[in-house]
Parts: sequence; structure tokens; C-alpha cells
Amino acid sequence: MPYSPKSSAKPKENANPLGIFDSGVGGLTVAKKIFELLPNENVIYFGDTGRYPYGPRSKGIVKKFSSQNVNFLLSYKVKFIVVACNTASSFALAGLRKNYDIPLVGVIEPGAAAAIKATRNGKIGVIGTVGTIYSKAYQKAIHRRNRQMKVYSIPCPLFVSLAEEGYINKDATQLIANEYLNPLVKKQVDTLVLGCTHYPLLKKVISRTMGEKVKLIDSAEETAKEVKRLLKIYGLLRNAKGQAFRRFYVSDVPNKFIEVGEKFLKGKIRDVKRIDIDKH
Ligand code: DGL
Repeated sequence: MPYSPKSSAKPKENANPLGIFDSGVGGLTVAKKIFELLPNENVIYFGDTGRYPYGPRSKGIVKKFSSQNVNFLLSYKVKFIVVACNTASSFALAGLRKNYDIPLVGVIEPGAAAAIKATRNGKIGVIGTVGTIYSKAYQKAIHRRNRQMKVYSIPCPLFVSLAEEGYINKDATQLIANEYLNPLVKKQVDTLVLGCTHYPLLKKVISRTMGEKVKLIDSAEETAKEVKRLLKIYGLLRNAKGQAFRRFYVSDVPNKFIEVGEKFLKGKIRDVKRIDIDKH
């Protein structure tokens, strides 16, 4: 049954953790913004590293994985779930909302809304994984709000590996960016949605390629703002004093998650445990 704040009496506060999931480390860009904006919240982060990546997978598989991830988070009595993966948000969010009685937020809607606000000429570019782009999730979310917008979308799968490898300032990354983004430059988009968890790490090269005047929409940042807004509306903020906890769970050995994740989070990651996602 979908969550409805009206169906339950509005609480004053809720100290249960926020749940965040992604296909792996990428969602840490979203988690980072949530930690900054909501430092008082307890957080359980799940990175599905054992089944990463989601980007090239089909809708049915991503839906199944996403449900298992939600089941896992619910075992920790989370009060709210952030689908911090663009591919999972594109394919699975609507189904999750139907099937679970818990508020869920994805990264697509906040990014789409911010892009419409930012554009001056009504031409918006969207880049993401193959799954996100072929699902047309951003295009639909933008057109639901404003039919007049022109949306140009391009999958940029190699950006994911470049970000994970730390290829931030390499010539090779610039060449690939030219290849991917030149069609969007030609379309004269004035706003570009970074529709993948990994792309904020490549902001500099993307901005250089698109032209400094093109506004880059960081879905991670917009999503964190939306999470805060909804927690307030639903009466779910944690008001308790005392240090909040942040716990990380993964579905494969934690080493690589910690190594790459620290680049994404720009900080130390402690408390990472491996779990068996097939049990959920
Ligand atoms: N987290 C994914 C996304 O935002 C990118 C990595 C993957 O392909 O799993 O779409």
C-alpha cells in the first residue's frame, strides 16, 4: 500500500534512521549532500556492490534488486527511503511506491524540477546511464511539469568508470567528454542534468566541454533538499541530541567500496559491513 501521510497521525519527530540505497558507491554523492544538509539524521546506506552496475541492466532485474534493497533497509526500521541511484529511480521507484507503505524519494523528480527552474531557453540536456536514458524517466518528469521544454538525452556510460578510476583531469576523459557532449553543445542546451550518481565527480570537465554558461544540475544536491523538505512535512525529522550514526552495508567484500567511496564522499568511511542481499 502506498505511503500516505494523511493516513497516519503526524508524529512530532522520529529518530529512526533514513535508508539510502544505490547500486554501489555512486549514491554516496547523494549521501554526502544528505549528511551536509541533515547532520542530525541517523543513516543506513546500502550499496549493492555485489550486483553492480545497474546502468546496463533491464527494467525487470533493476526492479527486483530494488525491492530486495528496500526489504533490507526495512529490516533496520528506516523511516524514509532515498533511492540514490538514477537507474533504480527510473525503473523501480513507481513500483516501490505502490508496494511499500513508507515514504520514498528518488533522484529524478528533484533533478527535473531544478532543470526547469534553471533553463532560460527551454532546452535541457540530460546525461545518464543507458538504462536511465532509454527509460526516458527525466524526459517524462520534465514534460509532466512543462510540455514546452525541449529535452535532449544522451547515455554516457564510460563516465561511470572514469569517475571510479579517479580519471578526473586526464586528457582521455576530455576526449570522451567531447565525443559524448558535443551533440548537446550543438543543440545549444543551456541546462544539463547530471542524471547519474557518478557525474558530479566530473563536473569540471563536463562544464569545460559544455561551456561555462551552461548550468549543471546536480541531482544529488536537489534530492537532499527534497528529503529535508519531506521529512519536515511528514514530521519525521530527528530532533534528539547526541551524535547521529552512519552505517554502511554492501553486498560484496567492502575493500573496493571503501577505497572508491572515500573519493566520492571526500572523507573517511568507517563501519562497513557485508550482508547477504539474497536473504531479503
Ligand atoms: N548508480 C548508477 C546511476 O545513478 C550508476 C552506476 C550503475 O550503473 O550502477 O544510474
